Amino acid sequence: MTERKILLTGAGGQIGQILTRALVDKFGKENVIATDISENPGFENTYFRLDVLDKEGMQRILEENKITDFYHLAAVLSATGEKNPARAWEVNMNGLLNVLETARNSKVDRLFFPSSIAVFGEGIDREKAGQNAVLIPHSVYGISKAAGENWCCYYHEKYGLDVRSLRYPGVIGYESMPGGGTTDYAVDIFFKAIEEGRYTCFLREDARLPMIYMDDAIRATLELMDAPADRIKIRTSYNLQGMSFTPAELFDQIRKLQPDFKIEYRPDFRQKIADSWPRRLDDSAAREDWGWEQKFDIAKLTETMYRGIKNRQLQKS
Ligand SMILES: NC(=O)c1ccc[n+]([C@@H]2O[C@H](COP(=O)([O-])OP(=O)(O)OC[C@H]3O[C@@H](n4cnc5c(N)ncnc54)[C@H](O)[C@@H]3O)[C@@H](O)[C@H]2O)c1
Repeated sequence: MTERKILLTGAGGQIGQILTRALVDKFGKENVIATDISENPGFENTYFRLDVLDKEGMQRILEENKITDFYHLAAVLSATGEKNPARAWEVNMNGLLNVLETARNSKVDRLFFPSSIAVFGEGIDREKAGQNAVLIPHSVYGISKAAGENWCCYYHEKYGLDVRSLRYPGVIGYESMPGGGTTDYAVDIFFKAIEEGRYTCFLREDARLPMIYMDDAIRATLELMDAPADRIKIRTSYNLQGMSFTPAELFDQIRKLQPDFKIEYRPDFRQKIADSWPRRLDDSAAREDWGWEQKFDIAKLTETMYRGIKNRQLQKS
């Protein structure tokens, strides 16, 4: 295998911080460059401030560092996007087009683009959204991801760019904070349980959504990027399912560890976004093509989140 040189955009975000660490562990810190529009959140590897709308800056970093593997994570997420749709479209769409063009110009070996369950909307089997279900999203975020997947496929077909993509469900972890998505409650709830003993949930108690624990999401990403190119049959984006649960089911799990924990439900605008999303995804194509298998269920996730946050607090005090 030739030496890998990795570049990430949006590395300061919830997934980017953990993915950067995993890539540093795998390829060495001298081979991983993290970028984001914000300040360095504390990476020890090389970090550049890069706005994904700055195409020349992006091209320069790719060329000067002979990047082989490009992970494009920067985006404006679903809930934040609804507050400023034009900005979400600009960052998500023009950012991706800059990434695709510069990756093609620099002849990178592989590009990763995260899509989302937000691509789904009208006309799907909500109990199990199929890989090839119709994409009629309701949020500007979902529209940008659906268009983005198709752009990725276009660059693969037209220019042979080896683009690979996953439709992540809600990603849950405790070592980095979520950045304005509709599934963020499933992280917040643990912190509020431990810190305040009560939580006000912005989704309804029965809002079932697909979720995935961070370790599984990172492993899926690395396995997808490691798979031989001929195993990647889908060049839009693979459905990825970890587990599905409702806020009430997560509350019940946390109560097993903290019996006096209390919750109330005050759904806001994010409920409408959640209503348009599938409750579960059919990820059989990912399983068949490159061997995807999740390891975390709701019980293991709850135990890991709860103990992890508690331990961190103990270390701080
Ligand atoms: N977290 C999830 O549950 C989830 C689910 C589905 C898909 N995704 C996708 O995964 C990717 C990473 O998500 P995340 O949860 O880490 O998001 P996040 O909001 O935590 O992080 C996104 C990062 O992008 C950066 N960014 C925003 N605008 C930028 C710009 N113009 N130039 C450069 N950087 C910019 C932000 O500073 C932030 O650090 C996104 O593409 C997101 O759409 C995430």
